[in-house]
Amino acid sequence: MERENFGSKIGAVLAAAGSAVGLGNIWRFPIETGQNGGAAFIIIYVLCILMLGLPIMISEFLIGRYTHANTAAAFRIVSNGSPWKWVGRMGVFTGWFILCYYVVVGAWTMHYAFLSVTNTFADVPAKEYGDIFNNFVAHPWLPTVWLWVFIGVIHYVITRGVQSGIEKSAKLMMPTLFFVAVFLAVCSICLPGASQGLAFLLKPDWSKVDSTTVLDAMGQAFYSLSLAMGCLCTYASYFGRTTPLAKSAVNVAVIDTLIAIMAGFIIFPSMFNIGMDPNEVGVGAGLTFVSLPNVFQQALGDGSFLAVVFSTLFYFLLFVAALTSAISLHEVATAYVTEEFGMARKKGAALVTATILVLGTLCSLSFGPLSGVTLFGRNLFSVFDDLSGRILLPLGGMLISIFAGWVLDRKLYRDELSNGGVLKTPYFKLLVFSLRYIAPLAIGLVFLEQTGLFAFLLR
Ligand code: PHE
Repeated sequence: MERENFGSKIGAVLAAAGSAVGLGNIWRFPIETGQNGGAAFIIIYVLCILMLGLPIMISEFLIGRYTHANTAAAFRIVSNGSPWKWVGRMGVFTGWFILCYYVVVGAWTMHYAFLSVTNTFADVPAKEYGDIFNNFVAHPWLPTVWLWVFIGVIHYVITRGVQSGIEKSAKLMMPTLFFVAVFLAVCSICLPGASQGLAFLLKPDWSKVDSTTVLDAMGQAFYSLSLAMGCLCTYASYFGRTTPLAKSAVNVAVIDTLIAIMAGFIIFPSMFNIGMDPNEVGVGAGLTFVSLPNVFQQALGDGSFLAVVFSTLFYFLLFVAALTSAISLHEVATAYVTEEFGMARKKGAALVTATILVLGTLCSLSFGPLSGVTLFGRNLFSVFDDLSGRILLPLGGMLISIFAGWVLDRKLYRDELSNGGVLKTPYFKLLVFSLRYIAPLAIGLVFLEQTGLFAFLLR
């Protein structure tokens, strides 16, 4: 079967950046930064990206591009059939697993864009935003309808193929996302009191930095760059032979970090404008769907045209960010089933979509009719979230770095990285050093922290 490639280098970078830029950039990074020492956290975060994010991203790119195969096959090929092949399969599984709950949140962003554009938030008292959100997610069918629409859009893009689906949509959506983010940030910065918000985000406060901060920064860098779930490896399998791997990885990391910082520019000025203390809000859904809709109305004029535009664009931004990430996750699984089981792309994609429809719906319903179904006291959504984020991701990342640093043939690595000797690779030794020592150790610590084993061992 003829295998498609991305048509251009910029398309390849935008697609990978689409995978990286997601909910994590907007609903976690800014708050985490503000609460953990502002610029101090950003500096640590950037160091984490340089020291372990980039080496692992480059390795994933390299394995994908070298093999031109889905992630499971890619690892099977580079591991010569040794047990390391399981790392690839694990990546495919992790990606698929994450997708099952990621789509649920993607669907919420659509609902909130709809509520914003219809000016439903006008004159809602501040304390009712929590109820609006809780009633929505517990509704017996409404979130499911949005979920199916969201999955439908992903499915459409995937079935169009690599070039006319993924690449074309990334070329359209990523610049759109960027301009919307710039527009919102500029609007927000023009608000009275914005300087306090920017200070909260940017003023370095090293007194807030401790070992947990560093571990958080590592975990965030890892998640934000979409590492260890097969996404980057799968996308890189569509890279052309002349695509520069290290440079593309740097570009993706830069775009991802810029958008994350910009999200802070969007959120904090309006928060300070209404006198809300960002230290008191949580991250994630509570911030995005409870605090922020209120903040936007208050800061821009309750029910005003500006509030409608701002709020709508904000949820549209989240929607696009979630969509491009979800597409990358779907592609991991689609490439896997089509190539491993010799199915036509349409059929393979339909199979993946069907599983996501079922499991996604169950996750979505776990806030409502299925809220009684729990495992270790968590609903289904949280089980998927925790298991993938706390266990599968760090474990996968650690294995990839060990594999790339210790097992993968060094000459192969260098050849591929330099595109057959064409590009200079002065950073090669450093890269290998990080893959061998720094990354596995650092991720190991994140793993211990995220699973709670740290606290347990230190008791
Ligand atoms: N990188 C994405 C984000 O920042 C997260 C993601 C997870 C993307 C899983 C793809 C797959 O939100």
